[in-house]
This record gives sequence, C-alpha cells and structure tokens, in this order.
Amino acid sequence: MILLNTMMPGQVVLEYSYLLSAIMFVIGLKLQSHPETARKGNLWAATGMILPMITTLLLNRDEAGEAIGLMNVFAILLIIAAGAVVGSIMARKVKMTAMPQMVSFFNATGGAASAAVALIEYNKNPDQALLVGLLGLVVGSIAFSGSMIAYGKLDGKVGDIFSKVMTYVNLFFMAVIVALILVVLLAGLDAQTRTYLVYGLLVISLVYGVSFVMPIGGADMPVVISLLNSLTGIAAAMAGFIYQNEAMILGGILVGAAGTILTLQMCKAMNRSLINVIVGAFGGGGVSNAQAQGSIKEITLSDAAVLLSYSQKVVIIPGYGLAVAQAQHIAHELDNLLGSKGVDVRYAIHPVAGRMPGHMNVLLAEADVPYEQLVEMDNINPDMPNVDVAIVVGANDVVNPAAYDDPGSPIYGMPIINAHLAKNIIIMKRGMGKGYAGIENFLFFNDKTRMLFGDAKSTMQKLVSEIKTI
Ligand code: TAP
Repeated sequence: MILLNTMMPGQVVLEYSYLLSAIMFVIGLKLQSHPETARKGNLWAATGMILPMITTLLLNRDEAGEAIGLMNVFAILLIIAAGAVVGSIMARKVKMTAMPQMVSFFNATGGAASAAVALIEYNKNPDQALLVGLLGLVVGSIAFSGSMIAYGKLDGKVGDIFSKVMTYVNLFFMAVIVALILVVLLAGLDAQTRTYLVYGLLVISLVYGVSFVMPIGGADMPVVISLLNSLTGIAAAMAGFIYQNEAMILGGILVGAAGTILTLQMCKAMNRSLINVIVGAFGGGGVSNAQAQGSIKEITLSDAAVLLSYSQKVVIIPGYGLAVAQAQHIAHELDNLLGSKGVDVRYAIHPVAGRMPGHMNVLLAEADVPYEQLVEMDNINPDMPNVDVAIVVGANDVVNPAAYDDPGSPIYGMPIINAHLAKNIIIMKRGMGKGYAGIENFLFFNDKTRMLFGDAKSTMQKLVSEIKTI
C-alpha cells in the first residue's frame, strides 16, 4: 500500500489490473476443471489475458514518463491482429482428433516468444537479469523446438528415432548447456565473447529440444506435450522477471504449475514414472508369463439388441477406438434409444482413455451427451457388479484386468474400469488388435464376454437399427 501511495495514478491502475488479471486466471483455471464450466473458464482466462495487454499498452511508462506501448502502437496492434486472425482460423478449422498437434504448435510459439524476449533483453541489460535471462532462453528454446517436433510427429511428418544412444546424446547436451551457463555467469568474459556464448547456448538448446523429443514414442506425445507446455509457462514467467511484470510472472507460473500437475496426473493414471515415459516406450517394464484362459466368443447383433433392451443398467466404456471411428454421435443415439426403453445408461470415463487428457469428455460433449451421464472411474467402479451389460467401445488397456492380476504386465498397478465385474460384457472392436500398451487383454477371453467385431461406428449403427425392431 505504501508503495502504491507513491505511484502515479496510471501506475496504480496498472498494478490493480495485474491483480485483477491474476484473480481472473485463477477463476478461469477453476472453471476449466469441469466440462460443464470449461468454456466459461476459457472466457475468464482470455479476459484475464486481454486486460493486462490493454493496460500495459496504455499505462506502462518509462523513466521519462513516456507510455512505452504507445511509442510502437501500430506495430504492436498489427502483430496482435495477425496473431489473432491466424490463431482463430486454425482453432476453427482443427479437427477434434488433431487437437494435440495444434496445442503443440501454439505451445511452440509461446516458447519461441519467451526465448526471443530473453535473448533481446539479455543484450540490452546483461547484468541485471543474467541468470534469469539465460534460463529463460534455454527453457523457451527447448520448449519451442521440442514442441515443433512433437507437432511434426503427431501430424505424421516426423518419424521416431528409438535408440539407447539418444539417452547419452541428450545427457551430453544437458551437460554442455549447464557448462555454458556457468561459464557465462562466472568467467568474467568480455561482452563480445559472452554474446557469442549466449548464441551458442541458443543453438544447443534448440538442438537439445529436438533430440529430447525424437526418441519418445508417438503415442507418449500427450504426456510430453503437457511437459513442454509447463516449460513454456516457466519460460514466460522468466521473461516476466526480466520485465518485472507481475502479470507475466503469474500467468507463466500458473501455466507451469498446471502443466506439471497434468503431466504427473497422466503418468499416475498410466502407472508410469515421467522418466519411464521420457526414456522408454510402454511395455519396456515387466515380462508377462500369463496365458489366456478360455476362448473368444462372439455375439450376434440381434442377441446383443435383445440383451441390451431387457437390461436395467448398462454402462458404455469408451476408448481410443471410439475416437478413431468417430462413433460418439451414434453412441448417444444408442443411449437415448435404450433410455426410452427404461434402461439406465451411463458412460464410464477412464482418465487416460483415448490419447489426450479429457479425450472422451470432449468427444461425448461434442455429441451432446449430458454431463450427468459421464461417470468417472472411481465413482462407477463400486457399482460395476450391479451392471447388467458393460459395452466396451474401442477401449482396451483401460479395461484390462492384467492391471490387477498379472504382476509381470507392464500395466500392472494401473487403475482400470472394472468391466470384468459386470454381469455381461460386450466388446466392440475391429478384430483382436492390441491397445496402446501392446499387450494381450484376457477380458476378451472371460466367460461373461461376447465380442461384437467391426468398426465401432458401423456396428453401433446396425445395433441401433436392430434395437428399433424390438
Ligand atoms: P487402447 O488401449 O489404445 O485400445 C484401443 C482399441 O481400439 C484397440 O485395441 C483397437 O482394436 C480398437 N479400435 C481401433 N480403431 C477402432 C475402430 N475404428 N472401431 C472399433 N475399435 C477400434 O485404448 P484405451 O483403452 O482408450 O486406452 C488408452 C491408452 O492410451 C492407455 O494405454 C493409455 O495409457 C494410453 N495413453 C493415453 C493418454 C491420454 S492422456 N489419454 C496419453 C498417452 C497414452 P482393433 O484394432 O482390434 O479394432
């Protein structure tokens, strides 16, 4: 307060606008944690971002009292307009399945912006913010090049390089980066040598971003994107430190913290450590000696239609295959149809079903499935023994009981949806293809299980037609 009393009125408004923006970010984040309020959360966070942009542009002054933003107002507005147009066209056009790529691409731009700020401000004022500048440069550059490779991989433009050698290459790059930072900080270099080394640091960090992401399996990309996203947040916070801008610092810290929590939650839901994701592909862990008991049994469409129509409780368990088949709309038609026959239909949502956080929630929301029908794993599992039919649609790993009873399995210990406890299990998939973890699923051989083979969308279309005839 004492500090505010000594400030110019414009400066006070600026500081309060930063405080208000911080509050809006927090409200936005809170609202984003539920599908029903996520849109509102986005609006709060976006407003929280626009507010300090406007106030900084109008009110931020240099020592001579000149409004810094207004000096270059046309260039700044032009760049903001260009970014807004490109961003909104991309966001409107993107397909739901290409969302991870787009997040990765946008994340790369954030990393590049933070690295650019660090590089420019380091040159202007090397002594004041040297360590923060160097760290911002390194983290922002890694986030940029790593995110671009992640984008390329997910879009099928870049292949994988799986080799143990990459681990040593990456350790070498990390050591060089740390050594360069220490030399720049401590060796008392002349300005020119220091500048050369800082540019060297930029190049090595960019190369390290590439070599860090290259060996990671394409399907592990969601975890890596979340990690890179948190790095971008940290880089933005460092850029905020350089400018002494509270809104940037806080926004960056929130992104960094949220990204880190999401990364760790995804790893926990897969029962894997972050190191395991970064260094090895899924399945590199245990060796399973378990043998399948029983045999595969199929069910006809008409038998499935009768079974479902005369059930009381049905749970649909969606997985990656539902997303591939784009079967969310027909799934909703099926649940409506069964609902009209008095069947209680719910969806069981596993935290890592699909290939990105909230994948199933987003798909089902797109098909207008009411949120009350989506039940999270921990809440549906206790009721699974009372469920007449569990319909597994394109899910595999997230219902694999090996997580409970095969200590040799790479997914041992991963929480799953207890489909095996339901009275009847219908599994919709195209064939005996494995899931993301690349392992056998003994649920398919369970006595209560019947397979309904085919593409999830067309199978469900036929099932809906069949139920309509009953
Ligand atoms: P998966 O275990 O990947 O299994 C998907 C199944 O869908 C496959 O077995 C496949 O069998 C079937 N399928 C593919 N296309 C289909 C189609 N058109 N119609 C019908 N079925 C189709 O999926 P899940 O159970 O959702 O598990 C997700 C996995 O991804 C987990 O292992 C999880 O750890 C991992 N993961 C998730 C995330 C996030 S954040 N969600 C991030 C990284 C990794 P067929 O080939 O026989 O049809």
